[in-house]
Amino acid sequence: MSTEKLRIAIQKSGRLNEDSLKILKDAGVSIDNGKEQLKASARNFPLEVMYLRNGDIPQYLRDGVVDAAIIGENVLIEKGKDIIRGEKLGFSKCRVSLAVPKSMKYKGLQDLDGKKIATSYPNTVNDFLKEKGITADLHIINGSVEIAPNIGLADGICDIVSSGSTLFKNNLKEVEVMLKSEAVLAISPEISEERKAILEKLQFRFKSVLNART
Ligand code: PRP
Ligand code: MG
Repeated sequence: MSTEKLRIAIQKSGRLNEDSLKILKDAGVSIDNGKEQLKASARNFPLEVMYLRNGDIPQYLRDGVVDAAIIGENVLIEKGKDIIRGEKLGFSKCRVSLAVPKSMKYKGLQDLDGKKIATSYPNTVNDFLKEKGITADLHIINGSVEIAPNIGLADGICDIVSSGSTLFKNNLKEVEVMLKSEAVLAISPEISEERKAILEKLQFRFKSVLNART
C-alpha cells in the first residue's frame, strides 16, 4: 500500500480556521488537533494538515510545498492568480470593499482620485482602480486597516467586510464592493498524480458534505 499523503494547508488562526477543520471533520477525516503543532496527520485518511498564515499559503502552493489548501478566494485574487481554484466551500463569505469616513460626501470613485487608501489588498485595489481610470496613493498595512482614516493615515480603506461591524465601529461606510469571496479549495500546479488521486477522494467527500448542508 502507498504511504503517500496529501498535504493540505489551512489557516492557522482567523476566520477560516474553525470552518476548515469542520468541513474536514464532516468529511470523516479525524485530525489530532494539537494546534501548537503546525503539522498534524489524519488518523483515517492519507492526509497531513499544515497550519499556515493565510498570506503565505499562495507561495507554498506555487512551490508545491503543499498540494492543496482551504483558503479565501480573496487571498488567491490578491496573491495567487496562478493557483488552480477548485470547489467553492460555502463558508467565510465576505466582500472586499472600499470604505470612507461616514462624514465624507462620497459621490463616486472619482472622489478617491489622488487620495490615500490604506489596505492589505494592494493588487486588488490597483487592478480595480486602474480599470476605472482612478489613481490613488496606497498605504499597505497588514491588519487593523479600519483605524487608518481615524488616525490621519489615509482618506479611505480597502479591506474585507463580513458583518460590517468593524466598519461601523470605526465610523466608516462601505462605498464600493470590489469583489465577493468565500472559502475555496486551492490546488498546487505542482501536485503529483498520486496525490491528485487522494485529493479527488477528498473532493468527492467535500461535495457530499456540501450537498447535505444545502
Ligand atoms: C477582518 C478584516 C476586517 C474585519 C471584517 O479583520 O480585516 O477588519 O475582519 O469583519 P466584519 O465586517 O465582520 O467586522 P480581522 O478581525 O480578521 O483582523 P485583522 O484585520 O487585524 O487581521
Ligand atoms: Mg481587520
